[in-house]
Amino acid sequence: MKQKALLKLTSVRKSSKVPSASDEAGESMKGCENSSNCLQAVIDSLEDELMVIDRDYHIIEANNAVLVRHRKRRHEVIGKYCYDISHGLPELCCPPHHECPIMAVWETGKPAQVTHIHVYHADGEERERYVDIIASPITDSQGNVIAVTELMRDVTEAKEMELKVAEAHQNLLALNTIATVVSQSLDLDTILGSALDKTLEIMKANIGGILLLDEERQMLCYRVHRGLSNKYVGEMCLRLGEGIAGRVAQTGEAILAEDISMDPRAARPDLIATEELRAFASVPLRSKEKVLGVINIASHEARKFSSEDVQLLDSIAAQIAIAVENARLHQEVQRKEEIRGELLREIFSIQEEERRRIARELHDETSQVLASLTANLEAVSGMLPDSADKTRTILRKAQALSVSILDEIHRLIYELRPSLLDDLGLVAATRWLADISLRQAGIAVNFRTVGQERRLPSQLEATLFRVIQEGVHNIARHAHAKNAGLSLHFKKSTIRVHIKDDGRGFDVEEAISSKDRPRGLGLLGMKERVELVNGTLSIRSRPGGGGTEISIEIPLN
Ligand SMILES: Nc1ncnc2c1ncn2[C@@H]1O[C@H](COP(=O)(O)OP(=O)(O)OP(=O)(O)O)[C@@H](O)[C@H]1O
Ligand SMILES: [Mg+2]
Repeated sequence: MKQKALLKLTSVRKSSKVPSASDEAGESMKGCENSSNCLQAVIDSLEDELMVIDRDYHIIEANNAVLVRHRKRRHEVIGKYCYDISHGLPELCCPPHHECPIMAVWETGKPAQVTHIHVYHADGEERERYVDIIASPITDSQGNVIAVTELMRDVTEAKEMELKVAEAHQNLLALNTIATVVSQSLDLDTILGSALDKTLEIMKANIGGILLLDEERQMLCYRVHRGLSNKYVGEMCLRLGEGIAGRVAQTGEAILAEDISMDPRAARPDLIATEELRAFASVPLRSKEKVLGVINIASHEARKFSSEDVQLLDSIAAQIAIAVENARLHQEVQRKEEIRGELLREIFSIQEEERRRIARELHDETSQVLASLTANLEAVSGMLPDSADKTRTILRKAQALSVSILDEIHRLIYELRPSLLDDLGLVAATRWLADISLRQAGIAVNFRTVGQERRLPSQLEATLFRVIQEGVHNIARHAHAKNAGLSLHFKKSTIRVHIKDDGRGFDVEEAISSKDRPRGLGLLGMKERVELVNGTLSIRSRPGGGGTEISIEIPLN
């Protein structure tokens, strides 16, 4: 039925005079006074191009959109080969450029769809349009395919949008890759090296480098590079404003050169010529309005960078700049951390020296004087006549007092710097400490050593002694414990110390972050001392009677 109507339409057309394409559109729209007129009007009103093609690839019907598209009159189209009208080809369309869907319909009897890229000229320019072509069979009453309708829809806009979305997606992926790469390290050279590699991969280039600005010298020098000679990299250090990269760093604006070897702005044309550089893109690494350096991408062939390339490079450069800033901040923190460590080491060593000096003075002077005072009191009381009982009693009391002061001074001397530590080492000094500070305070102590006891470097022994001393003092002062445990575990390459009590426990976080200074520096001091010798310290405590356990581990090499 459908086929009959179309064929009839064709014969009607063939006999009529040939009007212009637009006349024909108007004419066919005149009315639907009979069904074939009406059908023609509908077909001509379509924006999509519609043709009916016979077995010999002749066009036997074409709607108005076809005539308008090809700027032809009906008689210039009807009876012509479809490949001639559509593509200006002298023979059948063939892949890869023009896959013919009509052939597929003849072969299978089923509809077929392809997308063609049609090249056309407009405003003196060669342009492309994407056309979706759906070819469908027209069959006779026996089901034989006798013609094919070809419906062509211009999908250029949708295709361009699709390409833009794909490109945006690609760019996002690229940025994501850069972000991932630069966030994997805080080491500046590692970050820059990986970022440059990824950027070159994304930009499909194999030459490039990142130059950082030395603020003091106001010079830009290569920090990482690929595909450039050492001579080029060594000599291409630019002042701000000098050459292309220098200008980029000064203005904060990217510069793209299709062929840098011809660019008068380039510095050191001799080096550029030896390196055979052509296309060159230089983009600033900007962070918070400050230019930190530039990233350069180049190739041996001339190349026009698109605005999309520049946008992508700009976004990549922004990511790299943030990473550079972070790495520098990290370096700064590390440097300050090192200085702090040095200062602490110095303070601890001065403190240790000062304690040693006070201990020596107390021993050599104060305790000597007190010892002779005690001896004198003894002598005087021996000289008193038997009748002077009262005086003797007073003298004996004074003597006992001076003995107890002497004891206290000896304890103080030991606390300040136990000679045991220097003479017999950490184990003896710690055992003495546990005795004097815990047992005498009524706390039972389980002291033990594991592994092969040995002397350690004196600075390390002093550090450990001070840390243990603070832990032991805290038990005596704060824990309200009945039992305490102290163990030294000598391993081959580390020493481990455990200080335990079954006292009331406390909130460690709160104690360490307490603003109630100067108290509460004991735990922080322990931590600092241990970290200065590359050790670790952990405190586990359960407030409400759960006790406290401090573990320290220090490497011995
Ligand atoms: N073994 C412990 N048992 C219970 N509480 C403890 C223990 N060790 C520390 N604490 C609690 O943690 C707080 C902080 O201890 P830290 O040693 O830092 O300071 P401090 O002993 O109060 O003062 P100092 O600076 O003289 O050492 C203590 O005040 C105490 O409340
Ligand atoms: Mg303390």
